[in-house]
Amino acid sequence: MIIQSQEISLKHLLTVESLTDEEVMGLIRRAAQFKNGARSILNKPQYFVANLFFENSTRTHKSFEVAEKKLGLEVIEFDASTSSVQKGETLYDTILTMSALGVDAVVIRHSAENYYHELVESKSIQCSIINGGDGSGQHPSQCLLDLMTIYEEFGYFDGLKVAIVGDITHSRVAKSNMQLLKRLGAQIYFSGPKEWYDSAFEVYGHYLPLDELVSKVDVMMMLRVQHERHHEVGKTNFSKEEYHQTYGLTEQRAKQMKPSAIIMHPAPVNRDVELADSLVEGMQSRIVQQMTNGVYMRMAILEAVLNGKA
Ligand code: CP
Repeated sequence: MIIQSQEISLKHLLTVESLTDEEVMGLIRRAAQFKNGARSILNKPQYFVANLFFENSTRTHKSFEVAEKKLGLEVIEFDASTSSVQKGETLYDTILTMSALGVDAVVIRHSAENYYHELVESKSIQCSIINGGDGSGQHPSQCLLDLMTIYEEFGYFDGLKVAIVGDITHSRVAKSNMQLLKRLGAQIYFSGPKEWYDSAFEVYGHYLPLDELVSKVDVMMMLRVQHERHHEVGKTNFSKEEYHQTYGLTEQRAKQMKPSAIIMHPAPVNRDVELADSLVEGMQSRIVQQMTNGVYMRMAILEAVLNGKA
C-alpha cells in the first residue's frame, strides 16, 4: 500500500474502526518521523491536555505524558483518588469541567466499555477525546504503536501472519489489533484457553493449537492474563506453571519460531506465565521497542487531534 505522508486531522480517537487506512499509515509515518527527530507542527502556541486515568496504567499514562511534553503541550494531571470523583462526580461532569476550563484534549482510561459515547454526543463538551482504553473494548493507541512496530520490522501488513495468543476475550488490545490488522491484509491466527475465546473472533481469523501455529507465523503477539476482569465470567483455575506450559511461549516453543519472526506483548508481562522470562528481552522480542514507539505514536495521535481543533 503506497500512501503519501500528509497532515492528519482527527476530531477524537475512540476506536480503530473510525480510522481510514490512509490515516493509519499516515500516523505510522508521522510517528516514524518523530522517532527520527522531526518537530511538531502545531497551529497554536498553547494547548492544554489532561490525562484522566480511572484504571491503573504505567505505559499508556506515562508515554502520553512524555509525548505531550515533547510536543510542548501544557499537561494537566488528574488523580481520581484526590478529585471530586470521590464526592460522586460522574465521568460526564469531570469531562464537562475540563472542557469548561479550556482543556483542548483529554486522554481517558476507564473500566466502562464505550464510556466515550455520551461525551462525544454532548453539545457542551468541546474537548477532543483520546481513548486510552475502555474496559475490554478498545485500546487504539496501543494498536497503532503495535502496527508501527510491525511495520518497522517488515514494511508491510498484507499477507503477514500474526498470532494473537492468550486472554483474548478480556483484551482490548486484541480487539483493536484483530480488527485493524485484518483490514490491512494480515492473516490472523488465535490461540489460548478456549474459555477466553469467542466465536465472534472467527470473522478476523482462525483458532489453532499453539504448537501448530508457533512455526507458521511472523508475529507472536502474546496477551496478559487479565485477572482483574475474570470476575465477569466466573473463575478460571490455571496455576502459573500450568498456564505457561499449556498456553505460554516457553523457551522450547520459541525454538520453533521462524528466525525472522518477532515476539510482541502490550505489557505489563507476567513473566514465566505468558512467555518465558528469558524471552522478554531476547533477540526476537520487540517488547521494549513497543514501549519506546508508544511515545512517538502518541505524539502523532496528539498532533492529529490538535490539528483537528484548528
Ligand atoms: N499496554 C498498556 O496499556 O500498559 P499500561 O496498562 O501500563 O498502560
